[in-house]
Amino acid sequence: MNEVTLVTGATGNLGGHVLAQLLARGRRVRALSRRPPATGVSAVDWCQADLSSGQGLARALSGVGTVVHCATDGRTRDGDVMAAQHLIKAAAKAGAPHLLFVSIIGVDRHPLDYYRAKYDTERLIETSGLPYTILRAAQFHDMLHYALDRASRLPVMPVLARTSFQSVDTPHVAARAVELSAVGPSGRVADLPGPDTLTMADMARILLRVTGRRRPILPLVLPGRVPGAYRQGLHLAPAAQPGSRSFEDFLKEGPAVKVPAAVRRSR
Ligand SMILES: NC(=O)c1ccc[n+]([C@@H]2O[C@H](COP(=O)([O-])OP(=O)(O)OC[C@H]3O[C@@H](n4cnc5c(N)ncnc54)[C@H](OP(=O)(O)O)[C@@H]3O)[C@@H](O)[C@H]2O)c1
Repeated sequence: MNEVTLVTGATGNLGGHVLAQLLARGRRVRALSRRPPATGVSAVDWCQADLSSGQGLARALSGVGTVVHCATDGRTRDGDVMAAQHLIKAAAKAGAPHLLFVSIIGVDRHPLDYYRAKYDTERLIETSGLPYTILRAAQFHDMLHYALDRASRLPVMPVLARTSFQSVDTPHVAARAVELSAVGPSGRVADLPGPDTLTMADMARILLRVTGRRRPILPLVLPGRVPGAYRQGLHLAPAAQPGSRSFEDFLKEGPAVKVPAAVRRSR
């Protein structure tokens, strides 16, 4: 496979892993970012472009056979939808490459604004006329790590009561996206949850054990539609799925705390 694969969000968490894995497979890769290339990535064809304005997209998409769309901007409700509109328009003009989008499990039923924007993006892609693949993944381990790390800085560690997650390792999601990019347009593919279904309290206990700390854990029933939707498990697949590294093994490597886009919007 010698066509160029464009990775949007190549400086981000998922996009960074996708970029590295494509390069490791010897694929021709172009990275899209609003920023200039960092030192050490000179081997990558780097393209500065802004999805929110469309600036630079014509050049970014020139000669591209596949786009792995990992860019996300959680700061506004419509940011990701507008970005997808610009990307689709530029892709249609550039010969209609395969557009692969990594979305989130349950976005069609969960009321969180960030998820609604992902669902709107999915529908834009499905009706775009472009050949596409949509892969919905569970929350990344990094996301739960971030939330629990913050909670663990308090004297008592608050967690969402009666709420479970099937968090998944980001490199595992990247590997699936890379695999699908080679398969070609596949429409909506099977959801990708992590290997375990754990309550947030279970995950808090794992974090405390792995980092050798002690805190009382305080499960809270928060009011409102969004916490209610998490309690109902609207973000969950019917069953967890083996394959990804577990949350505990992820934490044992001592990862840095990453602030995900979905969280950045509400800060
Ligand atoms: N985090 C999760 O738990 C999770 C779970 C399931 C699915 N997903 C999906 O996976 C995707 C990636 O998430 P992530 O957490 O890896 O994201 P992330 O680390 O926050 O990275 C976001 C990326 O988007 C780029 N970006 C933002 N605005 C842009 C713009 N206007 N133009 C061009 N690039 C822009 C940023 O690049 P520059 O700043 O360099 O321009 C950055 O590389 C998202 O679609 C997300 O919904 C995430």
